[in-house]
Amino acid sequence: MSITILGIESSCDDTSAAIIKDYKILANIIANQSVHKHYGGVVPELASRAHQQNIIPVIDHALKTANISKNGLDAVAFTRGPGLLGSLLVGTSFAKAFSLSMDIPMIEVDHMKAHILAHFIKENASSKVPNFPFLCLTVSGGHTQIVRVDDPYNFETIGETIDDAAGEAFDKAAKILGLPYPGGPEIDKHAQLGDPEKFSFAKPRIPELNYSFSGLKTSILYFVRDMLKVNENFIIENKHDLCASIQHTIVDILIKKLIRASKLTSIKEIAIAGGVSANSSLRSYLNDLKQKMDWNLYIPKFEYTTDNAAMIAMAGYFKFIKNDFATQDIFPYARKP
Ligand code: KG4
Ligand code: ZN
Repeated sequence: MSITILGIESSCDDTSAAIIKDYKILANIIANQSVHKHYGGVVPELASRAHQQNIIPVIDHALKTANISKNGLDAVAFTRGPGLLGSLLVGTSFAKAFSLSMDIPMIEVDHMKAHILAHFIKENASSKVPNFPFLCLTVSGGHTQIVRVDDPYNFETIGETIDDAAGEAFDKAAKILGLPYPGGPEIDKHAQLGDPEKFSFAKPRIPELNYSFSGLKTSILYFVRDMLKVNENFIIENKHDLCASIQHTIVDILIKKLIRASKLTSIKEIAIAGGVSANSSLRSYLNDLKQKMDWNLYIPKFEYTTDNAAMIAMAGYFKFIKNDFATQDIFPYARKP
């Protein structure tokens, strides 16, 4: 028997709905919220209002794209957290109402686990999926973790950031350079034309498999401030090299700990996930490294890196087959309890 699930993602500033039939995505619709561009970051109150406006049209669009009626759905999966509470409430409330009115079960999904489980979406019959156990470098706007995944239900965080996330480091650096939000894709774009060795910034010395990015932000801030005192056109004249050097520093920090984690655990199945896994430099460094490290490397498709509901539907599928359903008294969480 095949299983069809509606997935809903509303944890931050993307409203997304997806339909999965077993391991195959039939639709993955994402409405970005351009309103935040004017503010240089996500404004929580505006995000929840925009989710409220977008959620019905986005779900309708997903059903039409998948060419199925809502009566053909076996369950509704939604992001319970972590994320912005007001945003999460929109998806959670919709899922509750939909589950009641359609008389189908609802499934709560952890956003970070979903980023990782997106690797199990089957694009075609020959799609390669990670073998267990594998390590996943999960890098987004709010999280930076190295996770050991033993099966679709057992995740162990073996390293994580003690302050800023890698995505936040990209976004904050971009803000210092006067680039728009979100900064990660902007830095990636300008870095293509720059010299990654031109400028060097302070690198953290954090024990074990943990990360820290707040010192890097300060190092960039002070460096740029000092250079602007000498040359007010410093950023404009060096934009590409600055972006390439910042990106190189972040990617280097990320990869060094991943190598260490692989050596410590003797795991050579390596995956990346989350918004920052869209970064072209991170992808190409890892591709260069995989032969040297003898890794089987799993890099997600671009559309499954930044926030999307396909990953929520995929994670929901794994819970469905275990009959792991949520009840109507469920509430979202901003941070993992
Ligand atoms: O996973 P995601 O969409 O949302 C969260 O769960 O946080 O990640 C968003 C983060 C942002 O910080 C954004 O700047 C970063 O991912 N990002 C990138 C790239 N695309 C998105 N960072 C570096 N390079 C990119 N190409
Ligand atoms: Zn995310």
